[in-house]
Amino acid sequence: MLKLKFYNFDAVSSTNDKAKEFALEGKYNLAITAKKQLKGRGRFNRSWSSNLGGLYMTLVLKEKDLDKSKYLTLIATISVAKSIKDICSLEAKVKWPNDVLIEDKKACGILTELIHGKGTYELVGIGLNVNNSGFPNSIKNEATSLKIASGRKFDAGKLSKEIIKNFSKLYICYQNKKYGKIIDLWKSYSHTLGKKVMAKTLNGDFIGEAIGVDKDCSLILKLETGELKTIIEADIFVV
Ligand code: BTN
Repeated sequence: MLKLKFYNFDAVSSTNDKAKEFALEGKYNLAITAKKQLKGRGRFNRSWSSNLGGLYMTLVLKEKDLDKSKYLTLIATISVAKSIKDICSLEAKVKWPNDVLIEDKKACGILTELIHGKGTYELVGIGLNVNNSGFPNSIKNEATSLKIASGRKFDAGKLSKEIIKNFSKLYICYQNKKYGKIIDLWKSYSHTLGKKVMAKTLNGDFIGEAIGVDKDCSLILKLETGELKTIIEADIFVV
């Protein structure tokens, strides 16, 4: 089990920003949480709706295997999905690369960032909509929370501990380079595989069947031409 020191704040700009301050001081093995974020952010610098009721947490870990750090995003999504199943009895699926969905709507996003200071540190930012009851208009059709999905309220602190417990087990696989085991587990929670999707990348849009995830955590699409396309970074839409 990862032994993490908790720092719990009422409000921060972003738990990833706070985590960065600690990492730059050479501190790691931390879990930074906040009841709300004033400038919560997601991938591609999008904003992350961070009102009271959600779980906003960033883990600060010392990184050794830079090539493989994308596994931490997969590990985090699996850990959240398993925690949601075990604690809330809700069916949760992982969507490549960094989302957790309930009934096809996004309940959680992961933002991992590398920080170079005295050492190299990985920030694993986890935003889980727990008791949130509403979202901004721009995302209200795609977002959900555990409360909206179940009609019940949950203890964000209990969920954060369960997520860390599940994350710790998979982190051992990661440290022992058991990458195949992580991919297999990810597949068992996958929302993406087997679906026809559009991958919106910086180099254009690609439509194909999502058929796998490779050893670098890239998504493999089988295009309509039969060609296989490796997607390293993208937004994925089921079509
Ligand atoms: C995404 O879906 O693009 C990722 C969203 C990540 C949100 C979490 S909330 C905790 C941490 N702090 C942030 O500012 N972002 C991450």
